[in-house]
Amino acid sequence: MCGIVGIVGTTPVAPRLLDALKRLEYRGYDSAGVATLENKKLTRERAKGKLVNLENRLHEHPLSGLIGIGHTRWATHGAPTEVNAHPHATESVAVVHNGIIENFQELRAEIRAAGRTLQTDTDTEVVAHLITLALARGLDPVAAAAETLAKLEGAFALAILFAHEDDLLIAARRGSPLAIGYGDGEMYLGSDAIALAPFTNRITYLEDGDWAVVRRKSVSIYDENGVEARRPVSHFVASNLMVDKGNHRHFMLKEIYEQPEVVAHTLGHYVDFAERRVALPEGAEIDFAGLDRLAMSACGTAFYAALVGQYWFEQLARLPVDLDIASEFRYREVPLGANGLSLFISQSGETADTLASLRYCREHGQKIGAIVNVPTSTIAREADYILPTLAGPEIGVASTKAFTCQLTTLLALAIGAGRQRGHLSREDEEQLVQAAIEMPRHLSQALKLEDEIEGLAKELSRVKHVLYLGRGKSFPLALEGALKLKEISYIHAEGYAAGELKHGPIALIDETMPVIVVAPYDKVFDKTVSNMQEVAARGGRIILLTDEEGARSASVDTMKTLILPSMPAAIAPIVYAVPVQLLAYHTAVFMGTDVDQPRNLAKSVTVE
Ligand code: F6R
Repeated sequence: MCGIVGIVGTTPVAPRLLDALKRLEYRGYDSAGVATLENKKLTRERAKGKLVNLENRLHEHPLSGLIGIGHTRWATHGAPTEVNAHPHATESVAVVHNGIIENFQELRAEIRAAGRTLQTDTDTEVVAHLITLALARGLDPVAAAAETLAKLEGAFALAILFAHEDDLLIAARRGSPLAIGYGDGEMYLGSDAIALAPFTNRITYLEDGDWAVVRRKSVSIYDENGVEARRPVSHFVASNLMVDKGNHRHFMLKEIYEQPEVVAHTLGHYVDFAERRVALPEGAEIDFAGLDRLAMSACGTAFYAALVGQYWFEQLARLPVDLDIASEFRYREVPLGANGLSLFISQSGETADTLASLRYCREHGQKIGAIVNVPTSTIAREADYILPTLAGPEIGVASTKAFTCQLTTLLALAIGAGRQRGHLSREDEEQLVQAAIEMPRHLSQALKLEDEIEGLAKELSRVKHVLYLGRGKSFPLALEGALKLKEISYIHAEGYAAGELKHGPIALIDETMPVIVVAPYDKVFDKTVSNMQEVAARGGRIILLTDEEGARSASVDTMKTLILPSMPAAIAPIVYAVPVQLLAYHTAVFMGTDVDQPRNLAKSVTVE
C-alpha cells in the first residue's frame, strides 16, 4: 500500500505535495518522491527512507513547478532504494502508482522489444514507458494514457504527469482508492480525503474502473468503458476524517470495498512479488520444517479463517493442525508436544478466550504466533512471532476485510511452510504466489456482482431461515456466510459441510428454504452438485456461488447463480468471501437493521 497525491495548482506545489504525503505516510514510508514541471520539463526529487529525507532534499533543491505528483512508497516490486522510488519517469511522462500491475513482466518485454531501456525493478515504470511509446506514435497525452490503461492488468491507482502539459494530470483507479479534490482554480488528487484536507473539503471518490482528466478548472471522469461519468461531490468535516465512510452508506460496505487494496498490502508483507516467493518478514521467521504439528485457535470469523488455514497447512505443507474455537480450546486441556507452535488469530488482539488459549499454550511450552490486526494489542504483545494483517482500522462490527487479510496471511504462511518442509517445489511456490498476486484483481471483479446481489438480498430479507453449504475450503465460507447473515440481518442461518446435509439438516428443506451453495469449480465440485440435487429434489431454492465452468457443469436448477471469475482453487476462499459479505450486507440493509453496530454485539469481546 502506497500513498499518491497530485496538484494542478496556481502556486508552487512541491511544499503542498510534501504536506499531503505526510498525511499519507501511514500507507508506507520506505521511500518518497515528487515530480513537477519546470519550464515544461519534468523534474523530480526522490529519497530513500522516511519523508524527512525527501523534505531535506527539497530544501537543498527546491522545485518551483505549479503542477506535480508525489508518492510515499511501501515496496512491493523492487527493493526500497532511491532508484525504485516513485515518481517513475521518462523524458515525457512521470507516474506515481499504488497497487500491483500483474502483467508487468510481459509489458517489460514489449517495451524492451520497442527499443527502450528500463531503469528500475518496479512494475510501475512500464506505465511511463508505454505512454511514452504511445506519444511517440502521435497520440495526444489523454489518448496515450487511455490506451496504456487498457493494457494494464491488476488492481491499482495511478497519477500521471506529462512534459509540456502544465494543465493536465491523469488519474486512474482500479481496485486501489483515489479521490479528486476541487479547489478554487486548482484541483487535487490523493489516495484518501485525509491527504487533501488542508486544501479542500469538496471531494469526489473515483469508482472502480474510473479514470479522470484533471485540469485547473475542470475535471472529466470516464468509467471503465470510456463513457463520461457523473460522480457525486461530497463535503466532509475534517474532524470526521479518520472515520470517513467515503461514498459508502456504512463502514461495513466501505470495508468490503477496501479488500482489493488491503489484501494486496497484507500479501506484500509476506511475499516477494518480483521473485514470486514467500519472504517472511523480520520477527516472523518461523521454522515450519522443525514442527510436527501446529495448534490454532480463534473466535467467530477469525476461527473460520483458521479453518481455511487448516486446509492450506495440511494440503500445501503436510503439516497437521489441531484446531478449535478458543472458548473450547482453553478448557479442553489439549496435550501439546514439546517445542510446538501455536497460532492465534484475532482482529482486535484482545478477545478474552483467544488470549486465554494463548496463555495456556505459553504455559505448556509452546512458541506463540499471533495473526493480529491491531499491532499494539495484548495478543500481539504476548506473541513470539507477530504476523500483522494490514487491513487498517475495521470499524464495522461485522468483520470483513480483517477476515480476508487473515486468510491472506495464512495462505502466505502455508505456502512458506510447504516450501520449508519440502512439500512444494520452487515452481509450485511461484505458481501459488502468482495466484495470490492476482487476488486483488479477482476481488475487484467479485465486487462488481454487487447489483445482482442486492436484487437477491431483497428476496432473502423476506425469509426466516437460510442454509449455507460448502465443501472443502468452501465449508468455512458457508459457516462465515451464515454468521454474517445472522449477526447483521438477524435472520436465522446455518452453515453446513455439504456432505453433512443428509445427516439431519435436510429435514429442514422445503420450498421456503433458500440454500446458498459456495462451490467454485474445484476437485470437490461434483460432490457438491450431488448435494445440490438432494436439495433440489426436496423443493429447496438454490443460490449458487460459482464460476463459469461451475455454472456450465452444475446440472441443477437454481433460483440464482452468481458467477465469479475463474481462479486457482487455492485463492478461492478469499475471493468468495466478497459475495458472501455483500449478500449479508444488503439483506441487512433491506431489513433496516443497524448494520455497523448490530444489536447485542461488540467489536472487541474482552469478556469470557
Ligand atoms: C463476526 C465477528 C466476530 C469476531 C470475533 C473475534 O463478524 O466480527 O465473530 O471475528 O469476535 O474477534 P477478534 O478477531 O477481534 O478476536
